[in-house]
Amino acid sequence: MARQYQLRLLCVAAALSGLAWFGQSSRGVEPDGPDFSAVRIALQPDPKPAVTTKATVPVDHSRYVGVAGCAAANCHGGDGSRGVLGSEYSTWIQDDPHAKAYTDLFNETSQRMVVALRLDKPAHQAKLCLNCHGPQSDPPFDGPVAAHGALLDGVSCESCHGAASHWLGPHVRRDWRQKSAAEKAEFGFRDTKDLWTRGKVCADCHVGEPGRDVNHDLYAAGHPRLFFELSAFNANLPAHWDRKADHKREGTETSSAFEAKLWAVGQIASAEAAVDLLIHRAKNSSDDVPAFVRGGDYSHEKTIAVWPELAETGCFACHHELNSPSWRQARGYAGRKPGGSPWQSWLTPLVGDVAAKFGQADSPLTALSTEMAKPYPDRAAVVAAAVDAQRKLSELGESINGQTLSREQVKALLSGIAEHTPELAARNWDSATQSYLALVALHQSLQDMSGSEVPDAKGREINRTLEEVLGQLAFPADADSPRTFDKESIQQLQERLRAIQQSLSNGQ
Ligand code: HEC
Ligand code: HEC
Ligand code: HEC
Ligand code: HEC
Repeated sequence: MARQYQLRLLCVAAALSGLAWFGQSSRGVEPDGPDFSAVRIALQPDPKPAVTTKATVPVDHSRYVGVAGCAAANCHGGDGSRGVLGSEYSTWIQDDPHAKAYTDLFNETSQRMVVALRLDKPAHQAKLCLNCHGPQSDPPFDGPVAAHGALLDGVSCESCHGAASHWLGPHVRRDWRQKSAAEKAEFGFRDTKDLWTRGKVCADCHVGEPGRDVNHDLYAAGHPRLFFELSAFNANLPAHWDRKADHKREGTETSSAFEAKLWAVGQIASAEAAVDLLIHRAKNSSDDVPAFVRGGDYSHEKTIAVWPELAETGCFACHHELNSPSWRQARGYAGRKPGGSPWQSWLTPLVGDVAAKFGQADSPLTALSTEMAKPYPDRAAVVAAAVDAQRKLSELGESINGQTLSREQVKALLSGIAEHTPELAARNWDSATQSYLALVALHQSLQDMSGSEVPDAKGREINRTLEEVLGQLAFPADADSPRTFDKESIQQLQERLRAIQQSLSNGQ
């Protein structure tokens, strides 16, 4: 298994490393430049929406105890001599990007963002940033900003495993292991072994949630674009756990549907997070524009619920050259009117495919996407459609999560998506790249279920073609965006995707 995994990691790592863009392109933003405050509408405190499967704590809010509480050598700070177990802290502090999430708030990009946003505090004191880069409690983040020493932890153990004030003591006692996930959740502990829970935990920061919001203001100020896809991000994280155990829970060590299920659950968890944020924005923005918004300034305390929020629309719908006639006009607008918005082009293009394979004829997002594609979506209609979509997504996510996928299911998912990818590739770079990530995860999963350690000739050929696809999706060396993604590259991409589809349907 190790070798294919390597390939997988390489592909995805390369894909994502090419995606660290826009950071530089924000150089041109002047603090006194164009001000979107006309469309920035007011905010209210962040109530947590009712629909959430996140672990809740019944008594008072859990607080963070800090990594020092985990890092002792006989707890999680071992040197690796016992394998991954017991050395979680060492892996995290040495290799995990989350360990530098707080210190990155001192870097040049962060400082530029503070100026552009006219923030009234430096980034490392602003909850606007800290709620993702160094949280000190679970949502609704109602405590004061912690001291520098505590914040230094960045995105630490408790950011994923749950604030530990209620479970730190109990979890070292012998009876902890006997407790069910639901019982542990009562203490504020999150069961990251459960893939739906894991997806939602990651999506809370990598997509956002009420109180954690990378909106277009932050992008325009220089924040890197959030490109989340669960299977790729999970693979890219230096594991402080046993990946084989992950695999075994979804089959056996030698035949596991882990990658496919993680991918499918991740698609739904990401969409659910996007819908959650949309509901929050649509409900909590109002026409009362507070003073700091009118002045274009951000308070360090608040995220602003902006409506309509530009960051929910595919970036390249606006950020592209203007030509008429253009290849976009020739391509068409996938059911939208010319000038309409492709809503959530990164997070949602494959949600319908997943829903269809798991028994929902209609995508949970159809009604919502139609409303959001209008240039001026109706806010009440959006909230109604979004609440409905969120319920359907949660049901779908939990239903997939409850299954152990068979080889036939993974095959059907892969061939259905392979058939769809040529059309998806023509829509935009976001859909093309999500198609690539889907094919990588599902093809890997089928390999993991083949009973063979090494891919056969056909498998190797598909891997080679996927690498070529990746090469085409990568940004040109001199750009921070897919500037060369146009009619010709789409045609070449489609040829390769059709070749993959062909080889999958040959003799299976
Ligand atoms: C509390 C918020 C938070 C949570 C929860 C979280 N992340 Fe992150 N993640 C971040 C931040 C912030 C960064 C950027 C750190 C930096 O470089 O400063 C990051 C970076 C990463 C990176 C590196 C990305 C790159 O471009 O190099 C990966 C991979 C990643 N996270 C995966 C995950 C996975 C998988 C999960 C869930 C198991 C997860 N994260 C949960 C906030 C979070
Ligand atoms: C919704 C959660 C969220 C919020 C709010 C947020 N960030 Fe981030 N930030 C992330 C994640 C996730 C990444 C990693 C992105 C990736 O690589 O996929 C990141 C990456 C970054 C990076 C790049 C780190 C590197 O490796 O170079 C900087 C700089 C940054 N954020 C600064 C800020 C600042 C400053 C603020 C506040 C004004 C802020 N962020 C608010 C989640 C957030
Ligand atoms: C970005 C999210 C994230 C962060 C930060 C994080 N973990 Fe984890 N952790 C996970 C995931 C995902 C797993 C794999 C699923 C599981 O076993 O729960 C995991 C697994 C574990 C396990 C179980 C290992 C096993 O094989 O059963 C332990 C123990 C653990 N983490 C401790 C820590 C400690 C200690 C820290 C801080 C030093 C930490 N984690 C930081 C996400 C995270
Ligand atoms: C509905 C149109 C629209 C969408 C969609 C949109 N933007 Fe923008 N963006 C703008 C406008 C308008 C500006 C201001 C341009 C100016 O000041 O000249 C801007 C400015 C920027 C800037 C500042 C740098 C520059 O070159 O102007 C960045 C970076 C940026 N956007 C990133 C993004 C990202 C990332 C997305 C997708 C998540 C996105 N935008 C989606 C309209 C949009």
